[in-house]
Amino acid sequence: MRPPSAARPINSPRSDLDDALNTRLSILCAEGWDIWDRFSSGVRQHSFHPFVAADYDAVLEALLPHRGPGLRFLEWGSASGVITIMADLLGFEAFGIELDTDLVRTARALAIKSGSKARFAAGSFLPSGYSWRPSGGDGRTGTLGHGASGYLQLEHPLDEFDVIFAFPWPGEEPMMLDLMRCFGRSDARLLLNTVTEGIQTYQGGRLIAPPDATESASTTML
Ligand SMILES: C[S@@+](CC[C@H](N)C(=O)[O-])C[C@H]1O[C@@H](n2cnc3c(N)ncnc32)[C@H](O)[C@@H]1O
Repeated sequence: MRPPSAARPINSPRSDLDDALNTRLSILCAEGWDIWDRFSSGVRQHSFHPFVAADYDAVLEALLPHRGPGLRFLEWGSASGVITIMADLLGFEAFGIELDTDLVRTARALAIKSGSKARFAAGSFLPSGYSWRPSGGDGRTGTLGHGASGYLQLEHPLDEFDVIFAFPWPGEEPMMLDLMRCFGRSDARLLLNTVTEGIQTYQGGRLIAPPDATESASTTML
């Protein structure tokens, strides 16, 4: 299996965001890349770890059309927390679940440093009792690990989230779609950062075109 590749951000300020927010996002992404560099040389150099950082600039672009007042965001496998914190800075009520407790500590520290209210649970984003039973019969979950479910810590079940983001390794997408079908809301949007097709948006199990960013920006409180 080919690992997702980490890409560097362009970090150019966006004309549709105010200067203060552009600055906070750019500092956040720079911190995120420093964390990734240290993680890459300190941990991934020695043994396999499923954390690979997404292209933060592309994720920002993908999140913008989904903003709206009072929306709740969840990142499955939130690693260093950059994307969950980004969602908080964009106005979502933002939460992340991550299995690796060291990464959860890193994410919480980054949230404090970034002046963000993003919250992180140490645990699995697989709800208790879930098991992956594909029609082909191969229920292996790829790089996805198992542990106590993180939703109790967040105090919100999966069906209370409006926007969910994940960066699956190739082949893990069908299980994530199944998870939404079993436990998510049918009107929630699932943003999957795929290695081959970029960030794809699903709603009710179907691939959809993301809403127009300018329309959603006019309805946000930012
Ligand atoms: C490819 S990385 C994505 C990191 C981050 N979302 C990003 O896009 O930059 C996948 C992350 O999921 C975590 N993970 C794997 N299985 C998990 C599970 N069952 N529950 C929560 N996190 C999990 C891994 O530890 C890893 O940090």
